[in-house]
Amino acid sequence: MTYPLDGLPSEVSIYEVGPRDGLQNESAVVPVEVKLEFVQRLVAAGLRTVEATSFVHPKWVPQLADAEDLMAALPRVNGVRYPVLVPNERGLERALSFGVQDIAVFGSATETFAQRNLNRSLDSQFEMFAPVVARAVAAGVRVRGYASMCFGDPWEGPVAVDQVVRVGQRLLDLGCAELSLGDTIGVATPGHVRTLLAAFGAAGVPVARLAVHFHDTYGQALANTLAALQSGVTVVDASAGGLGGCPYAESATGNLATEDLLWQLHGLGIETGVDLDALVATSVWMAGQLGRASVSRVVQALS
Ligand code: HMG
Ligand code: MG
Repeated sequence: MTYPLDGLPSEVSIYEVGPRDGLQNESAVVPVEVKLEFVQRLVAAGLRTVEATSFVHPKWVPQLADAEDLMAALPRVNGVRYPVLVPNERGLERALSFGVQDIAVFGSATETFAQRNLNRSLDSQFEMFAPVVARAVAAGVRVRGYASMCFGDPWEGPVAVDQVVRVGQRLLDLGCAELSLGDTIGVATPGHVRTLLAAFGAAGVPVARLAVHFHDTYGQALANTLAALQSGVTVVDASAGGLGGCPYAESATGNLATEDLLWQLHGLGIETGVDLDALVATSVWMAGQLGRASVSRVVQALS
């Protein structure tokens, strides 16, 4: 049985971030063979966009230092996209040598997090991204832009809505096709989500270009997702088993679990094309690899 609600989209695209946002924050370094199987199982479960890894400096994120090995081993599947994070031109060169079709640059809505995550000021992050986005677009690569700390920052506290809109607009103006609004530390609440999305709308950004990226630190990720759907968002980031966080953001815990998201969407009668049971089995297997149980409520309930 499904129980639809009025005013929601009929289909939602899930942008799976487990292999990147999830594994970048594990203290254990997962062998590349396990990552490869993880990505392939996510695809077999029906996910069509799986953010695979990051071409960042390996000293900054040692968990993803095997990006080359993973991308070399990963079989390409028709209709499946494997975006990778790229901060700068060095990262773009590494990504392009594997023929990637999708990259994501990741900017900060706050000054402090720009310094901590990118070793740059807020303004100079755009100077770093500009040639990356221009070269990628010229090479036919689709570029996503992330804005982090859109709802709050552990060092700066609350983040003003108009500041987030300015940062997001600058990422879109560089040539990003899509902008993912990150609640990096999970402090957002549903009214805040709707206020931010409305502010982007008022600034002339179509909701079709926006995605949401919630972390579940305060248990608000699903409520925030529903609020975003009510605002017309149709791309939702999630992480299998609720893996994840950010190594450069204190108090960033797991992402919204993909299974928890699926339970809600399927109950609402919204199509995703993803097989929940196959995904739960994947997260149970991954939890075994990591030596600890999944934090996802749905994984716990179904396993
Ligand atoms: P930097 O030290 O300022 O780099 O780091 P640099 O440009 O000064 O270069 C220093 C050296 O690093 C040079 O080598 C470069 O070649 C090398 P040398 O000439 O000295 O031998 N280098 C690289 N090597 C490999 N790959 C590269 C690369 N770039 C430079 N791409 C940098 C600047 C941006 C590289 C660094 O700060 C970095 O890698 N940061 C990434 C941090 C990160 O990945 N954080 C997590 C992702 S963001 C996130 O999780 C939030 C999100 O999930 C959304 C949300 O939740 O809100 C997306
Ligand atoms: Mg994140």
